[in-house]
Amino acid sequence: MSRVLLFTGKGGVGKTTLAAATAASLAAHGRKALVVSTDPAHSLGDALDVRLGAAPSEVDTGLFACQIDPRGLVDEAWGELRGHLRTVLAGAGVNELDAEELTVLPGVEELLALAEVRRLASVGPWEVVVVDCGPTAETLRLLSLPEAFAGYLERLFPTHRRVVRGLLAGVAGTGTVEKWDATADALSRLAERLDALRSMLADPSSCSVRLVLTPERVVAAETRRTLTALALQGIRVDSVIANRLVPSPGSARGGAATWLRTRRHEQDAVLAELTGIGEIRTVDHRASEPVGVPALLEVASQLYGSEDPLPAASVAESLLEVSGSGRGLDARYSLRIALPLAEDTELDLARVGDDLALTVDRRRRLVALPSLLRRCIVTGAEMDSGGVTVGFRPDPSLWR
Ligand SMILES: Nc1ncnc2c1ncn2[C@@H]1O[C@H](COP(=O)(O)OP(=O)(O)O)[C@@H](O)[C@H]1O
Ligand SMILES: [Mg+2]
Repeated sequence: MSRVLLFTGKGGVGKTTLAAATAASLAAHGRKALVVSTDPAHSLGDALDVRLGAAPSEVDTGLFACQIDPRGLVDEAWGELRGHLRTVLAGAGVNELDAEELTVLPGVEELLALAEVRRLASVGPWEVVVVDCGPTAETLRLLSLPEAFAGYLERLFPTHRRVVRGLLAGVAGTGTVEKWDATADALSRLAERLDALRSMLADPSSCSVRLVLTPERVVAAETRRTLTALALQGIRVDSVIANRLVPSPGSARGGAATWLRTRRHEQDAVLAELTGIGEIRTVDHRASEPVGVPALLEVASQLYGSEDPLPAASVAESLLEVSGSGRGLDARYSLRIALPLAEDTELDLARVGDDLALTVDRRRRLVALPSLLRRCIVTGAEMDSGGVTVGFRPDPSLWR
């Protein structure tokens, strides 16, 4: 399985350019790399200055590229399943229009694009797959999709599908039941793929995000929110890149130099506001657009210097950590959930069976409790800038 690097950020900040530059640099250092675009506004071909198709082609030595066409994937993979579903539902007496609505699931295109990235990461010959994602909001939605989608499927088509099958037989006769079986099989294959996708996204040794921004005031606030949301999904951000820093004019005089000095001063102030989120790499605003491999390599050499663009898979600090003291029923445990939180973050916590439902700024995530804590009662929670600590004590009725 290849490493996957996802580039995201607001529209126009330089995601495509930096993703392409990173892949070009990997290839130039002798590591085969594939750069793929899942952004419907495909501009990867423009950055590389080549025509790209949906299948990877080698555009330079060791550098492969393609643009995933989500519409094509929908027609291919989803179209068949949707056809099945429509027949089954129609057979069960659901009218044509409702069936149509029910089978147009939200986010299917993005989900299939992501599944395609995973497939490409598993076939090689590339060592790394660099993904030029869409704008941040979409990417976040995309990354939470496997989970949301699996839940949606589960509600719509419960695991106890024999019950549904029995119901269908009563309502619609055996022909429909056979079709339902085919649909159910297709659905469980889809569920398996979603599971695989989820584990790829949440495994820091196989996947990480590089967040691109331009040093502007509005971007700083959004960057923090994005970092929190990604942490909430259990997805690791391995670096933040500030693109388009104007060059400092040194001690030069004159109108242009003053303009540059003011601009750079403001940009530095924005970056200073972002301290605390870790190291920020920077790339200068270049006089001409970096188009084509040689120009992209220049960008990459500023971005990574003499360092490897692909850092060794670091052992990421885990999102969850349990500590405890005392024994038996007197034991006290605490669960630390690491998340970068702003002061005005709205946080809500609820116990839902064996999970904790954590809602941060209206984004909800279920955190599966370690088995020890499932037999405990929540005693309280505290929040600070680095995360949430939840207190537990044993539940006498479950403890032995
Ligand atoms: N550091 C840079 N210096 C000069 N031009 C840049 C730089 N980074 C990106 N650009 C240009 O800015 C435009 C938008 O960049 P792009 O990578 O397509 O952004 P995104 O993918 O985030 O929408 C492109 O024309 C690109 O060539
Ligand atoms: Mg782009």
